[in-house]
Amino acid sequence: MSKNILILPGDGVGQEVTASAVEVLDFLIKEYGLDFSVKLMNVGGTAYNECGSPLPKEVLNAAKESDAILFGAVGGTEWDNLDWEDRPENALLTLRKELNLFANLRPAFLFNELSEASPLKKEIINNLDILIVRELTGGIYFGEPRGIVSDKEPNYAFNTMVYNEDEIRRIAKVAFESAQKRDGKLCSVEKANVLEVSKFWRSIVTEMASEYPDVQLTHQLADNAAMQLVLDPNQFDVIVASNLFGDILSDIAATLTGSIGMLPSASLDSSFKGMYEPCHGSAPDIAGQNIANPLAMISSLSMALRYSLNQESISDKIDTAIKLFIQSGYRTKDIAVDENYLKTSEVAQKIIDIIQNG
Ligand code: IPM
Ligand code: MG
Repeated sequence: MSKNILILPGDGVGQEVTASAVEVLDFLIKEYGLDFSVKLMNVGGTAYNECGSPLPKEVLNAAKESDAILFGAVGGTEWDNLDWEDRPENALLTLRKELNLFANLRPAFLFNELSEASPLKKEIINNLDILIVRELTGGIYFGEPRGIVSDKEPNYAFNTMVYNEDEIRRIAKVAFESAQKRDGKLCSVEKANVLEVSKFWRSIVTEMASEYPDVQLTHQLADNAAMQLVLDPNQFDVIVASNLFGDILSDIAATLTGSIGMLPSASLDSSFKGMYEPCHGSAPDIAGQNIANPLAMISSLSMALRYSLNQESISDKIDTAIKLFIQSGYRTKDIAVDENYLKTSEVAQKIIDIIQNG
């Protein structure tokens, strides 16, 4: 059955890296005769400039009909002063919520050839391979009530961190099952020493552990986990955390690899439809210069093929090609040690050549 893929390049370098992923996708469709229907639409600031909304209705509808969405990045200084409704980031949060993409998988892995780029010492960082499973449609990001009160003295603002047991169970299930497929270790992160919602989170995750006797479950408080990620990141296999803590920890984990331009992510619903985006943002400072690293986006395409499009072996081919690309010494500007690097627009063809010729 044909699968629908929606391409949403968005803003800034999102446009450039998505073009690279589409080049690889077009090649794969031809080479392997894949039955995919591919549509490209604007989102974020680019869509706002075009039609006054960062997430036009047609785009949301197309997203709902897609099996996989490749999402570049959104945002830029040009749109920073807009009301929240109109801001590019709102498109991202609305897509997550409307499509029920509750499970955010954020791998952080190091290519040992690039360990010099990490801010940590080689012996601490080598062989790093962590998966952060972040809850993406609940918690303090979406909790009600929320607001800013400006008609009382003093003025104040508030948000609500709330999780029900079903929300915790479904994200913990994804995390336990991910650990089963990896090294069998799961660390659940919260602030159970302070927050009720965290105590509740811990009790549910602990209760579920008996269903996964092959997974070794530990718990860490979020502040300690942030420290441990820097002190001894290799102690982790899978980390599961709420929306807010997962947001913070995944930035730390990504930075450890020294190259946020290499890391993909997947946001999945319960039937494994999903949105795939690089971990880096729209990077307005380098946008339009043809120097962004498109490997995170190409790697996100690989995750889409694996999780939503039933093409695991083609996904393996992309992952191997990216490894070989790095091992062969090809670099983009962010990971280059000298002036010898490929432009954004040159990377896809190299990856295609490697897939074709090994
Ligand atoms: C992320 C980003 C988003 C988030 C922003 C852009 C709303 O930081 O995907 O990690 O906080 O979830
Ligand atoms: Mg973030």
